[in-house]
Order: sequence, then structure tokens, then C-alpha cells
Amino acid sequence: MTDALTTLTARLAEHPRLPLGHWPTPLEPAPRLTAALGGPDVWIKRDDCTGLAFGGNKTRKLEFLLGRAKAEGHDTIVTFGAVQSNHARQTAAACARLGLRCELVLNRSVPRSDALYETNGNVLLDGLLGANVHLVDGLDETVAVLEEIGPAHVVPTGGSDATGALGYVAAAAEFAAQLTAPGGPGHVDRIVVASSTTGTAAGLVLGLAEAGVTAEVEAICVYEPADVTRAALDALLADTAALLDVPVPAGGYRVRDDWFGPGYGVETPEMAGAVRLFARTEGVLLDPVYSGKAAAALAGLAHAGEVGAGETAVFWHTGGAPGLFVYPDVF
Ligand SMILES: Cc1ncc(COP(=O)(O)O)c(C=O)c1O
Repeated sequence: MTDALTTLTARLAEHPRLPLGHWPTPLEPAPRLTAALGGPDVWIKRDDCTGLAFGGNKTRKLEFLLGRAKAEGHDTIVTFGAVQSNHARQTAAACARLGLRCELVLNRSVPRSDALYETNGNVLLDGLLGANVHLVDGLDETVAVLEEIGPAHVVPTGGSDATGALGYVAAAAEFAAQLTAPGGPGHVDRIVVASSTTGTAAGLVLGLAEAGVTAEVEAICVYEPADVTRAALDALLADTAALLDVPVPAGGYRVRDDWFGPGYGVETPEMAGAVRLFARTEGVLLDPVYSGKAAAALAGLAHAGEVGAGETAVFWHTGGAPGLFVYPDVF
């Protein structure tokens, strides 16, 4: 381990953390995807394989968020998301593992109200995992439901505060070790990752800088346009750096919304094409809301030559495949 990694690992160890996942997740070459994209050497970081109830990026955040909640003695967790929130499903699973009561307040923020959308996919799993699911329309109903629930420890939407982002600082440390391990790519030029509440991208940018890995993180907007996402990412980077007592990185990331489409959770032809491409070249399942739009960005950047043929690019798979089952018309 390099000195930088040892120091980073020691800093992370100062924060309460409970084991919830299978680490490290694989970092795999994607040769058929590489050939199909006609250029960059593409690898996939498999955070869809975190091992917790269909996996996903929230497992890493929840290790720190619920580690802290348990250390503070809380027994009831409340969190928020869209109806088909992967974060909610992962929180439900983590709470089941840790014996915590889980209350999920899920907002109808995507323009869908059909029975499939509100009962299948992640929602079906939330109930199976023992969470109490509250579907709401807007702020007033959210406030009323919170009153009904009573005292509870709040895990923020998407698990994105500085404590949650520590999960992705730790992920960057894990990835830095994999890069140069036997069978690894040796180096990386670019990392493409879906970004909504920005904890994943913020933690990665900070962790890579601290681990001494020089790579450009492409944060692909799936929830808000680029200006809003960038402001959120900058603020969270600063908060997370303060929590870890390290400097805020000067750069190392770009925020793009060219593959956002009409809105959060709304399908695009590019997303559908990228989901099919990953499935049919690598047998890897993406999701329609997050990783599918990030994959569309990778494909678009490769086709435009912006990700060059000589580059090594990592697609950071953040999970979400249960969402496929509520978009049958798209596939
Ligand atoms: C599958 C998936 N990918 C990516 C993201 C985005 O991560 P973040 O909210 O940390 O930006 C989420 C959650 O919002 C997600 O569920």
C-alpha cells in the first residue's frame, strides 16, 4: 500500500462503520464492449455486486450512515426517495440486517402513477425487506407522514451527506489498490458515473485525490441539470473534505447533462440503446434511471471521439437493475 493510501485508510477508520457489503467489488475488463465502442479500453467497476439485496452504490454509503446511527443508539431510520428509489431498497435491506425499524417516504416525483410502477421493482422489494412504505405527493404529505412516524433518525435522500460520501472515499481507496494489482488496468484516464444526489461522485473525487490517482471523473446528471448538480457536488465535496480534515480537490471532475433527456426517471432512446449494448456485449444489466443514462454518456463520448481510442475508461456501475422491471415497454 502506498503512504497516501495508508493515511487515507487510517482517516476513514476514525468513523463508525458497519460491514454490509462484499468488498472489493470486481473491476472487470469489458472486451466486447470495448470493441463495440471502437476505442477506449473499457473496464467496469461492479458496484452492482455489493452483495446487499441486488446491490448498488448505496451499500457503501449505508455502512457509514447506519454505522453512525447505531453508534448514536437510534433504533428507527427514516429516509426519502422517488417511488422506485434504489437507495430506499438498499436502506430497507441494511436495516433488516441491523435490526432497525425502517420507514421509507417515497415521493411520486416521476410522471408515472400506474400500478406496475407503484407495486413492482424496488417497491415490491422494500415491503419484502420489512420496511414501512409511505407513498406521498409533495412536501405537505411528507410532513404529515413524518408526524405519523414519530421520532426517527433521518438518513438523507440518496444517502448523500458527508458521512454517506465517506463510503465512496473508501471506494476510491479500494479502486486505487485494484488499479495496480496484478490483472488490473494499471492506470485509468476517465471514470464515468451516474450522479443524482452527488455523494457517489463527491466521495470518488475526494478519495481519488487523496489516494494519488489522477483521473477525470465524468459525473453524468440523471436527476437535475448540470448547474444544480455541480453546485450540490461542490458543496458536498467541501463538507466531506471538512469531515475528513483534508483539502478540497482543485478539480478532477466534469458534470455533464447531455444524456439527461426530458427528466428524472424518464426514458431516452440513448439510455435504452446503452442498456441493450451492455446486456448483449458483456451480460451486464444496467438500470433505466441511473446507470443506463451514464452508459449512454460513455457510448456518446466514445462515438464523438471525446473519450479517445488510446484511453482507459472505467464505467462505474452503480446498480439499480430492479428498476428494469417497471419499464417493460422500453425493453
Ligand atoms: C443505481 C443508482 N446509480 C446512481 C445513483 C446516483 O448516486 P448519487 O445519488 O450518489 O449521485 C443512484 C442513487 O441516486 C442509484 O440508485
